[in-house]
Amino acid sequence: MSKVKLVDIFKHRVTQKYLQRSGVNHAVTVAYNAFDLAVEQNVDVNLAVKAALLHDMGHYEWYRDGKWDYDEYRRHDIHAIKGAERAHKLLIRLGEDRLAAKEVSLAILLHTDSYLPFDLKGKRTALQRVVTEADNMDEQPKGLHHYKEMEKSEAIKLLRKLDKKIAALDSIDEDEKISS
Ligand SMILES: [Fe+2]
Repeated sequence: MSKVKLVDIFKHRVTQKYLQRSGVNHAVTVAYNAFDLAVEQNVDVNLAVKAALLHDMGHYEWYRDGKWDYDEYRRHDIHAIKGAERAHKLLIRLGEDRLAAKEVSLAILLHTDSYLPFDLKGKRTALQRVVTEADNMDEQPKGLHHYKEMEKSEAIKLLRKLDKKIAALDSIDEDEKISS
């Protein structure tokens, strides 16, 4: 089955707009973390990596006097809800499988419970846990992980590499199907 590539998702103008806010470096780092965790935990790598890349695309910029106001953000943030909706719309536009778009969207919706009046401990699926863990691995105090920089060209190079790693896993799966 042909899948929407990470590079094509990343280059889309919608992704470019929103990942500039939450940080390209963070998005690519979390996508790589999700790849490793998904392989280790036998979770769908394609879904985990796409959700990881897009997990923070719902962020709004909480600036006050030129600086990120972390307290304001904690009080009013709903980035997981907005991100889930934006990612779903984007993936469907790019021709993603509908079920895949739904799973990715749900993993984004539940990658944090900081905006919810209850916690999600023990309630996430394996895929949702991988995305949450991949994000937590890159988290820094006061949201500093959103400010780490990465050139667009470097991000494209890394995502192209990740696309190849996912395609290589797919071909191993296909070989196993044929030989069984
Ligand atoms: Fe994040």
